[in-house]
Amino acid sequence: MKTEIIRIDSENQKGAAEKAAKLLREGALVAIPTETVYGLGANALDENAVKSIFQAKGRPQDNPLIVHISEIEEIYNLVKNFPESARKLAAKFWPGPMTLILKKSSKVPDTVTAGLDTVAVRLPRNETARAIIKQAGVPVAAPSANLSGSPSPTDAQSVYDDMNGRIPLIIDGGRCEVGVESTVISLIGEKAKILRPGGVTAQQIRDVLGDVEIDKAVLNEVSKDEKVSSPGMKYKHYAPKTKVVIVKGDDSSYRRFLNEQTGKFGALCFEEDAKYLKCKFVTYGKSTNPDSQSAALFSALRQADNLGVDVIFARYPNEEGIGLAVLNRLLRSAAFDVKEV
Ligand code: TXA
Ligand code: MG
Repeated sequence: MKTEIIRIDSENQKGAAEKAAKLLREGALVAIPTETVYGLGANALDENAVKSIFQAKGRPQDNPLIVHISEIEEIYNLVKNFPESARKLAAKFWPGPMTLILKKSSKVPDTVTAGLDTVAVRLPRNETARAIIKQAGVPVAAPSANLSGSPSPTDAQSVYDDMNGRIPLIIDGGRCEVGVESTVISLIGEKAKILRPGGVTAQQIRDVLGDVEIDKAVLNEVSKDEKVSSPGMKYKHYAPKTKVVIVKGDDSSYRRFLNEQTGKFGALCFEEDAKYLKCKFVTYGKSTNPDSQSAALFSALRQADNLGVDVIFARYPNEEGIGLAVLNRLLRSAAFDVKEV
């Protein structure tokens, strides 16, 4: 299959959205830009189309997908009920980088939810994404548009690197501004719970609901057989081909540790570190700016594979705000290998 890329500009947005929507209605897969990462979209109501997502990514069958909508009203078709907590969060953070887990309606195929009785729903902020969903006239199931296990794609080239020959169309909307996936919040239990940290921070959610739990799998390793609230948490994830080790320490300890290493190694560091290091490096944002770290992380992890080294020593991020999401992704890419210096 030949994979076409259409770069969006002010003139062709409508035409490109129509083309993508037509393919989606016909049961094909289309990669679409969102503010978080690129998604690999299919008509969520078409079982066969949804199955082909799992095939194209090599995704484990028991990992459910997020269903994307273009307006809040579209959620009523997908869920059994829309509780007060969900209403409040939606009013505040949609459209945006937040996914809500609610009881599913009978309209949502089991393939989408991997047999769970809940469904994940998101209303993205990216205008092109919403135009495509609106035009398609159906909800769009979309995981991140990477091969299963690889870092999520934050630009069209990264999607192409993973999906060339597997899908007919990539809509290129430029770089994703948030750079890490949406915050996944379960509203099934008594208390709201963050299953995956993301663009909407724990504090922002607390400001709306008063309280929110953070699932223990966010910062801790779970074994493959353990029951987890979000199946995606148990898989190796976001990993470049090169081994990653996270190094926790202040500016001078991190730099000293790297300059004392021998062998073929590189750094995944902050911009400020670069001039002090003697090794090859890729930077992921500024040390004092968590938003710049999240925006850069996934493409930096992909670039790290081009350093031609055996191990990458990644700098431990700031845990505040969106930094929790950065740490969550980095821990998985390093298979929880953290070294304190
Ligand atoms: O920002 C995002 O969320 C991106 C863009 C494309 O929207 N999508 C994304 O999808 O990250 P994906 O499939 O890579 O991650 C979805 C996560 C997985 O960890 C999955 O296990 C979890 O959401 N999930 C989906 N449905 C769920 C459900 N019903 N209950 C619990 N977790 C669920
Ligand atoms: Mg993913």
